[in-house]
Amino acid sequence: MQSVSFYEPVMDRLVNVNSSLTEMAERKHPFLAQLLDHTFSTPGKYIRPAITLLASNFYAHDERITEKMATGVELLHIASLIHDDTVDGAALRRGKLTISSLWGPKAAVLAGDYIFAASATLVCDTGNIRVIRRFAETIMELSSGELQEMAETYNPEQSMESYLERIYNKTASLFTTAAESGAILSGAPDACSEALRSYGHNLGMAFQVVDDILDFDGTEEETGKPIGSDLANGVVTLPTLIAMKQKNCCDAVTRALKHPEDSELMQEAVSIIQDDTVLEESYEFAGRYCVKALSDLKGLPPSPSRDSLEELVSHVKVRRS
Ligand code: FPP
Ligand code: MG
Repeated sequence: MQSVSFYEPVMDRLVNVNSSLTEMAERKHPFLAQLLDHTFSTPGKYIRPAITLLASNFYAHDERITEKMATGVELLHIASLIHDDTVDGAALRRGKLTISSLWGPKAAVLAGDYIFAASATLVCDTGNIRVIRRFAETIMELSSGELQEMAETYNPEQSMESYLERIYNKTASLFTTAAESGAILSGAPDACSEALRSYGHNLGMAFQVVDDILDFDGTEEETGKPIGSDLANGVVTLPTLIAMKQKNCCDAVTRALKHPEDSELMQEAVSIIQDDTVLEESYEFAGRYCVKALSDLKGLPPSPSRDSLEELVSHVKVRRS
């Protein structure tokens, strides 16, 4: 777990979440234990469970319930990454070999299913039907976003609307649920839950837009994957859409998407997208979601948790990995 200041108000509770995740690997038969041990040996950044706990911190409540929810949120995220790596045939995740590359896609799909179902049992334990329903909808949105990405691969004629819908489904949906569920389970009034729901949505959109920018603006060390790999895999994202809008860029990018095997053409397209004006416009786009996320927090009671949620917005804007 990282010692970044925005985790501070919920650090103790994140330790409980971490223990629950680790405990999952125990008591199972050896093969499953091996798969789970491998999965939990490289923890993520815990941004989503931290959001659930911070969003729950405005009203006194039974904290065991929101810790269960936060654990469920992180488990769903982990399950979706295992499935994503299997679909993508990815070799590495968090710098380690993926389950599918070590044990094959069949074991990876089943391990993802197991973790995904485990997340659902924790969410059921909250006993809150509104949250359970929202969680189920999120799984539909995640899968729908992934299928949308698959259907649109190598298609240069994508609209901004379609891109935004896709990144909502793929990423912002779980951020939205992470924030809204924390608020609902703490017994927050509707206006507060709605503000935190909107915060999660805007933060999640900014998070994915920045992720898509880093694919062109980051380094291989920072992102853990080759620069321009989204484009090389046919995934059209915001910087590509912005570059295509600009004069003379459309042709090179379209040709690269038609001939992804031509590395020279691909490099030309990546260089066009790496243009300062394209990246600037992309960062401004992400910045607008950050502004909206900050404004969502304005009506909430001032507290260290509200400060942390604000800091998280700044972190998402400047993050490099
Ligand atoms: C990573 O995106 C992937 C996701 C955010 C979601 C993937 C969702 C699914 C595979 C559906 C899961 C369904 C169930 C039932 C658990 P990315 O490929 O942009 O990021 P990356 O570069 O980290 O791989
Ligand atoms: Mg992926």
